Amino acid sequence: MDLAETIKKLKKEKNAVILAHNYQRPEVQDIADYVGDSLGLSIEASKTDADVIIFCGVYFMAETAKILSPGKKVVIPDKDAGCPMADMITVQELRELKKRYPGAKILCYVNTFADIKAESDVCCSSSNAVMVVEKAFRENDEIIFVPDKYLADYAQKKTGKNLILWNGYCPSHVKILEEDIRKMKKAHPGAEVLVHPECTAPVISLADEILSTDGMVKYVKRSPAKEFIVATEPGIIHRLKKENPSKEFWPASGITECLNMKLITLDKVLRALETLQYEVDVPQKVITKAKKSIDKMLKYQD
Ligand code: 13P
Ligand code: SF4
Repeated sequence: MDLAETIKKLKKEKNAVILAHNYQRPEVQDIADYVGDSLGLSIEASKTDADVIIFCGVYFMAETAKILSPGKKVVIPDKDAGCPMADMITVQELRELKKRYPGAKILCYVNTFADIKAESDVCCSSSNAVMVVEKAFRENDEIIFVPDKYLADYAQKKTGKNLILWNGYCPSHVKILEEDIRKMKKAHPGAEVLVHPECTAPVISLADEILSTDGMVKYVKRSPAKEFIVATEPGIIHRLKKENPSKEFWPASGITECLNMKLITLDKVLRALETLQYEVDVPQKVITKAKKSIDKMLKYQD
């Protein structure tokens, strides 16, 4: 039996579900029950009735699954799969920021640890940040957005609301430069430019569409274009090609791999199923508070 078959068999025996982010290695995406963006994975995690969730993504995503399914065992196949952007704000720093703006409401990107979500009023993902900024606050609310300054900048431009920004960013997405997009557009003049909102403002300004990873997957299906320049982590191109075999995809830059996402391998998924290591735990007090900010976000999805 090959590795993928062994994983499938064991998954059934353990009543486990495998969730994988769009940036995962191709072979990991291929054995997953659900592949998606941060929001899609959160929703899926909240619906599953499996006993075990094997989470192929980075740590904050697995924590989100635990917050939404506290009764289930959530397992991440490599405990070192973190998100450098999520590491850019600590709960102490957020508390200091709250002291500086005592009346402000806190909006946190889903790319944060559970304790940051617990200190926040509402959470958002790359696919719904604009909608959450528009709907979750009153006209005169002061809003602190942590940690991604580029997503925050994009959301404030789209909504016309001023946000108080934090100096966080994604080290992979900031490597995509304006020149990269211009060069690729020259080489592929018929291609549409799809940009993730974690990219910098000059890159976003060259986009035909600004989308979360699942947003890209949905958009490519309905677009009549045959070629796409993809300004995000290149792992998503596996899914884009698989679901659209007649279309072509060009990564905007060759240096944007998220090494943390790539830490998860099929061998580690198998080991995770066999040993149920590494279990992701979040203290109950944090779960209760963090769930409120995630539930508030999910409410705006309906
Ligand atoms: P998505 O929610 O768009 O998948 O983005 C998650 C992420 O970590 C992007 O770097
Ligand atoms: Fe974090 Fe960037 Fe990796 Fe996404 S791509 S998990 S934001 S480091």
